Amino acid sequence: MKTLPRLFENNRKWANQVCAADPDFFKKLSRQQAPEFLWIGCSDSRVPANEIVGLLPGELFVHRNVANLVVHSDINCLSVIQYAVQVLKIRHIMVCGHYGCGGVRAAIEECPHGLVDNWLGHVRDVVRKRHRELSEISDADRRVDRLCELNVIEQVQNVVNTTIVRDAWNSGASLTVHGWIYRISDGLLQDLDVSVSSDRERDGQP
Ligand code: CO
Repeated sequence: MKTLPRLFENNRKWANQVCAADPDFFKKLSRQQAPEFLWIGCSDSRVPANEIVGLLPGELFVHRNVANLVVHSDINCLSVIQYAVQVLKIRHIMVCGHYGCGGVRAAIEECPHGLVDNWLGHVRDVVRKRHRELSEISDADRRVDRLCELNVIEQVQNVVNTTIVRDAWNSGASLTVHGWIYRISDGLLQDLDVSVSSDRERDGQP
């Protein structure tokens, strides 16, 4: 018995539509992928990477996890970054968070959430680091939203501090790391203006 027939039906329709617009699309795609961008985003179902930025299959390399974290010892995320930078030679990495992130919110709630609380310890590190700024925001939702932004900014730093990105810059590669945030309630992206394109910028030099 076939399960989830609606999804297979949707898939056939989608493949047909793509073929109608470009009959060779899948044939070309099966030969190679040459994306220019690596998206590091949240697993949240309301933040679908390709759709938000209007990119087709083959145009965006993607890594998603709860609360869009880049952890120095996470072999999964690091492997994605390494493959993207060294093999695919992507030019831009965007860490994209979103307002109202459930993972970020859970990180500052008192109640336990099970295993995920271990992962969210990395968000609590950001809270500790930015405690003063966050404690001055009295509205709870605004505090979560600011933490969503600060978390993106911190993860951008984690990306640029990887040996992968530093080695790429040292060898003269053109690579920019961006911090973006998405608002689920209006579908719009915002650039947090924390892009880093070189070792000099990483060190805070002009
Ligand atoms: Co989220």
